[in-house]
Amino acid sequence: MNNIQFYSGKNIPLEMHKARIVQKISLLPVEKRLKALQEAGNNLYMLQNSDIFLDMLTDSGVNAMSDNQLAGMMNADDAYAGSRTFYELKEKLAEIFGMDYFLPTHQGRACENIIAGSLVKEGDICPMNYHFTTTKAHIVKNGGRVVEVVKKSSIITDSKDPFKGDFDLEELERVIKEAGPEHIPFVRVEAGTNLIGGQPISLGNIEKIHKICNGYGITMLLDASLLQDNLYFMKVREDKCKNMSIREITKEVASHFDIIYFSARKLGFARGGGILVRDKKLWDTMKEAITLYEGFLTYGGMSIKEMGAITVGLDETMDFDVISQGPLFIEYMVNELDKRGIPVVKPAGGLGCHIDAMKFIPNVPGEQYPAAALSSALYIAGGIRSMERGTLSEDRNPDGSEHLASMELVRCAMPRRVFTLSQVEYAIDRTTWLWDNRDLIGGLRFTEEPKTLRFFVGRLEAITDWQEKLADKFRKDFPNSL
Ligand code: F0G
Repeated sequence: MNNIQFYSGKNIPLEMHKARIVQKISLLPVEKRLKALQEAGNNLYMLQNSDIFLDMLTDSGVNAMSDNQLAGMMNADDAYAGSRTFYELKEKLAEIFGMDYFLPTHQGRACENIIAGSLVKEGDICPMNYHFTTTKAHIVKNGGRVVEVVKKSSIITDSKDPFKGDFDLEELERVIKEAGPEHIPFVRVEAGTNLIGGQPISLGNIEKIHKICNGYGITMLLDASLLQDNLYFMKVREDKCKNMSIREITKEVASHFDIIYFSARKLGFARGGGILVRDKKLWDTMKEAITLYEGFLTYGGMSIKEMGAITVGLDETMDFDVISQGPLFIEYMVNELDKRGIPVVKPAGGLGCHIDAMKFIPNVPGEQYPAAALSSALYIAGGIRSMERGTLSEDRNPDGSEHLASMELVRCAMPRRVFTLSQVEYAIDRTTWLWDNRDLIGGLRFTEEPKTLRFFVGRLEAITDWQEKLADKFRKDFPNSL
């Protein structure tokens, strides 16, 4: 993808695939968008797909599959136990990651449930570059505590640091010494990071984390859900990886870990998940939880067809052309918004284009969920469903006070191979209109607030009538447009 130069000098990402199956989408008029949003309790998870024009909520389970993945699904060997498709998946994982013991699960958080349930005890500390919502919930449920040791620059949104997902190594050692290695069941590396804007971690940093953990006899755990984007960034941003193939980088990354888990809704472009372990004893410890919570050991809650798709998807993840598409489209959107002065997370990361809501609408305080408010405004402006990644995604402190997030991001996810460049241009256009009308955006408050993972099903309302005013302004500016 990098080697094709335009005669015109234009620098736009060029797709190395063609679409052979498409799905019709439609755009509701702004008045209906406002109504749908309010009926959904201002929670974009609660919208129906038919209300949405561009679904930029997530890349999870909604990446476009390839012709070969579909063929892999058709070729699946359905069986409750002992399916050939399971063994093909297990072999593919062993070939790519160099780990022989595999436990299939229905998705990423199921891996987190099993890993935390097997390894985390009351009072334990789990250091990691940055938490993910479901990861933290499982650790906390088992009596543990998450300590983030990501380097300070990671939360500076306007930065040139190519690896903002790196650990602060001194801080990691300090945390280990303070807690005592016996209270640390594992050090978790998220590659790339989700909640700080899809920012990658470097191979060099992983090597150093491993050295430290080795010295203390601490287990190394990799969350590889977003690894495909991270592999791309290692290849293009890290000197030591420039001459390595994606397969070689993957093997090298994996060699530093004792346990690797992943959501196959992201890694492998399908739906499912799994845990890889180096040590048979550890595999034995966790396998009972698979039969208890997931399914038999040769499917773990996944449909056999999905396992067929994941096997092919993992192979395709080793293809630089395939894993370039997401990051290049994201970079395009980030750069275009940045040119217009719109605050975005820089440098562009994986997963999606992340807009900095704290800078976009500084008038909305953390307690009024700025990222959620901006997400709802973007839906009104363009029928675009983005995802809040800020205070709303945090649960309250035990005393009931708000746990204010260090970043308030609106993620416009870029599911792989799903959107065309003109659709991305539309998202840029509507975000620009919103930027020019940002003074109209106000805050939100809960009307129904669940205790755990409240962002999934909670309901909210606008604090004033700002959403009506925003929709009116849209109608004035676009009298004849949807
Ligand atoms: N770890 C990371 C880094 C993730 O991004 C996710 C999911 C999970 C674990 C959990 O996996 O959804 O299969 O249970 N992230 C999705 C997202 C939900 O939209 O970013 P899961």
